[in-house]
Amino acid sequence: MKRTIVITGGAGFIGSHVVRLFVNQYPDYRIINLDKLTYAGNLANLSDIEHKPNYRFVRMDICDFDAFLALMQEEHVDGIIHLAAESHVDRSIKDPFTFARTNVMGTLSLLQAAKVYWESLPEKYEGKRFYHISTDEVYGALEMTHPEGIPAPFTTQASSGAKHEAYGEEFFLETTKYNPHSPYSASKASSDHFVRAFHDTYGMPTIVTNCSNNYGPYQFPEKLIPLFINNIRQRKPLPVYGKGENVRDWLYVEDHARAIDTIFHRGTVAETYNIGGFNEWKNIDIIKVVINTVDRLLGRKEGEDLDLITFVTDRLGHDMRYAIDSRKLQRELGWEPSLQFEEGIEKTVRWYLDHQDWMDNITSGDYERYYDDMYKNR
Ligand code: NAD
Ligand code: DAU
Repeated sequence: MKRTIVITGGAGFIGSHVVRLFVNQYPDYRIINLDKLTYAGNLANLSDIEHKPNYRFVRMDICDFDAFLALMQEEHVDGIIHLAAESHVDRSIKDPFTFARTNVMGTLSLLQAAKVYWESLPEKYEGKRFYHISTDEVYGALEMTHPEGIPAPFTTQASSGAKHEAYGEEFFLETTKYNPHSPYSASKASSDHFVRAFHDTYGMPTIVTNCSNNYGPYQFPEKLIPLFINNIRQRKPLPVYGKGENVRDWLYVEDHARAIDTIFHRGTVAETYNIGGFNEWKNIDIIKVVINTVDRLLGRKEGEDLDLITFVTDRLGHDMRYAIDSRKLQRELGWEPSLQFEEGIEKTVRWYLDHQDWMDNITSGDYERYYDDMYKNR
């Protein structure tokens, strides 16, 4: 079936992987990448698919209700995969208003425009989807009941049988009560509530997913892994917040994109699915793995850059532990992560070291000029 899908935030980290997957996998779909190109949006992330006939880029702010409604009418949009957001916790602590504007008002604006357009059609919501991408951070933080780690009753990769340590007995479930702590997670929680309200009030066919920390190529180098890879390469200090004891649950970004594909096509309307790979790491441990990998791939002595680790003042309100239980998605839709963490981190480090030009463009702001050259006068 032919479909026209708007993917918001497609020039960002996860969005670019989702756009690439949909453009390549579904040549008979029309894929519209809608992105404002904030500091985090970079069209160079999609240079390999930008000339494909089923792809269109539109520079637009998700808060612009009139422009988005006009786009839906012009393109007969029947699916929305919504990733556009302000995504960095540290920025939300400094500037919460921008997060409320984009993440809350922007999401509401998309929902209302979709409602107006879809309700104007004879078939109304039949065959339509509003799929909202959210985060595990809305659930709050979990206890570190076993700081030394206990064997998790789950496998990181079902087919391999490998196990990974969990740092507590509790995991986030789809039924876990929302308890956001940062302005970022509060804004994402609010947007999730609006999405569910549009289903419950108007019958809009919505789906929400909550994913754990992603890593992989094209992540903006303000986030832990790409920032640290770049700093190690340049032998700059690595600012570890607090004691580095906080735990995050890491998933390779292409596995998230595959989950989004699966859920968009086969997920049940009004349901929530957690996405994660049962892959918890203390920050300090993951940092050591990254240092060793960068050193090895650069031909340095493994571990020689460990002394770049610099403990700095902790993040305000720093959530202690995130851990996602994604068994519902695995059970109901058969999705599972494809990569072992060791393989994923090696691939990721190698990618950043091999794409120094991408990193240099980002850190110098050159990707804004890429937009001017490629798109502005089309
Ligand atoms: P990102 O910051 O890399 O990209 C965000 C994109 O949204 C950018 O291209 C930016 O230009 C665009 N954008 C921002 N404001 C906009 C606006 N007003 N109008 C239109 N476009 C706008 O983010 P990411 O890490 O790829 O995250 C994508 C989504 O996934 C977010 O909703 C985030 O909350 C969610 N998420 C992220 C992670 C993670 O680990 N990165 C994990 C779970 C969920
Ligand atoms: O859990 C999903 C979330 O993961 C997403 O919703 C967010 O959009 C995404 O940014 C990410 O949030 P985190 O705050 O967990 O990611 P970040 O890379 O900023 O930090 C990871 C951990 O590393 C966190 O405990 C803070 C710590 N950290 C981070 C940076 C940037 C440091 O110790 N030093 C740093 O310089």
